[in-house]
Amino acid sequence: MPVEITRRANFCAAHRLHSPHLSDEENREVYGACNNLHGHGHNYSLEITVEGEIDPKTGMLINLFELDRIIKHEIVVQVDHRHLNIDVEMLNGVIPTMENMTVVFWSAIENHLPDGVRLKRVALRESEKNSAAYSGPAHEVK
Ligand code: NI
Repeated sequence: MPVEITRRANFCAAHRLHSPHLSDEENREVYGACNNLHGHGHNYSLEITVEGEIDPKTGMLINLFELDRIIKHEIVVQVDHRHLNIDVEMLNGVIPTMENMTVVFWSAIENHLPDGVRLKRVALRESEKNSAAYSGPAHEVK
């Protein structure tokens, strides 16, 4: 009887959307204001969904304090108040779109979950109107 739970974490970060595969003019066309040379910021909301069996001793799939600690340690402390193009090792060489970030965050967290707890979904909201989600498998983004 697998169940799933979701934990949310928020962080603030700056980024610039600019592809090395496109000319400067194409970059401006594709990304618009998000191509701004010195970047811009977002208040991100990250949702991590895990699934597994309920532990009959606790009635829980995973202790939410533990899940929160893993999300903070593996992702949030590395991206919060950083420039995603410059400061974040796991995003090195990655265009920091919310789509790419969900795939990178999947790999950042998947192997840190306790036995019997499986990663189900990584969702990232960048603004009121925009969000992306990834449901695996682990995949390298370059
Ligand atoms: Ni942006």
